[in-house]
Amino acid sequence: MIEPILLTLALVLLGVHFGVPLTYYVNAKWNWLKRPWDIDLDNNSPNFTVIVPTYNEAEIIEKKLGNLGKQDYPSEKLNIVLVDSSSNDGTVRKIEKWSEDNELDFELIEESKRLGKFHALKIALKKVSSSTDVVVFTDADSFWSPDALKNAAKYFADSEVGSVTASMKYTEHSLEEDYRDHFNEIRIAESKVHSTPIHNGPFLAVRNDILEEHGLPEYPGSDDSGFGSYIAFLGYRAIQVDDIIAKEPLKEKGFWRKVRRAQTILTSFSNVKKLAEKKGVYKSTEFEKVWKVEWWLNFVNPWILLAGTCLLGISSLLGGFFSALIILLIGLSALALKEYRIWIVQQSYLIAGCLRNWLKGKVVWEK
Ligand code: GDD
Ligand code: MN
Repeated sequence: MIEPILLTLALVLLGVHFGVPLTYYVNAKWNWLKRPWDIDLDNNSPNFTVIVPTYNEAEIIEKKLGNLGKQDYPSEKLNIVLVDSSSNDGTVRKIEKWSEDNELDFELIEESKRLGKFHALKIALKKVSSSTDVVVFTDADSFWSPDALKNAAKYFADSEVGSVTASMKYTEHSLEEDYRDHFNEIRIAESKVHSTPIHNGPFLAVRNDILEEHGLPEYPGSDDSGFGSYIAFLGYRAIQVDDIIAKEPLKEKGFWRKVRRAQTILTSFSNVKKLAEKKGVYKSTEFEKVWKVEWWLNFVNPWILLAGTCLLGISSLLGGFFSALIILLIGLSALALKEYRIWIVQQSYLIAGCLRNWLKGKVVWEK
């Protein structure tokens, strides 16, 4: 009889698929999250340069500038650089108009061609003066709490801290937000161990001397997703903290947008460590254990769900074996539970992202 073997195998795979992340989460929440930071927090007021890349952000750019203007931080210690890549929706006109009516000082760089966010960030970095202590990258469609820079400053008092990223919220309350809170908890817990691999484009602050020495992580599709790993493999702490909040609008739509995000996460997991080793700058730290599990969760775990489900399907088709079909039906009807559904959909993005990386070999950026 093959069905009982298939069924057992399916249950083992599904047990692993759900068991590994659950165990990791419970340990992160009840153990790591309760640890102290082990960082020398001190009064500190570094010079910040904030870089905002824009492409077709006419709808939201004034709100973004207004939000930056509300930062509770000495203006002589804050530079702002906007870099626009030939938006065709009047973004630049909006920016110029806004600056006529408002006091906030900033520099605007205009690229004559759109070569992507990463390229734009590199161009903007060239304008960062060496008196800058910390560079903060931020997406145009994201908004900070007024104390964001002030709170970030104290972590950078410790020279072990290489990067600081915000915890993420949505501008509207939703179940996705509750779900995201679990991720925030995991990222903060990982940060207390040493570092978290994934950083958030809405608020990503990096020590400028690291950028001057090592540059941005250069691998295909690189962006915020692998930034934490990049900094951590250089031997610095790359942390997400709970006292800096960045909000972004919830976008229900956009399957491909989510797949693209999964693609960049996967690309970063397969490249960052190799990059550090190739450059000869790789340092092994406590981060290694976080990285291994996160690698598993993003790269391997989604496929285990797929394999387990296929085996369940096959053993129900082989018939006679009722339990396989019942388990499959329970799994499907549980999709009515939103948290479970978000998880399953997330796995499908990771599978699609993996396939797309494999087929296309690079990340395609549609907006
Ligand atoms: N200058 C410039 N040039 N800016 C760009 C370009 C470009 O070619 N393409 C996108 N941007 C800007 C956008 O205007 C925005 O400020 C930021 O880059 C992020 O782009 P979004 O369109 O908001 O993308 P998202 O919401 O899906 O972004 C998330 O995923 C990305 C990776 O897939 C965020 O986490 C990003 O930080 C991340 O890079
Ligand atoms: Mn965005």
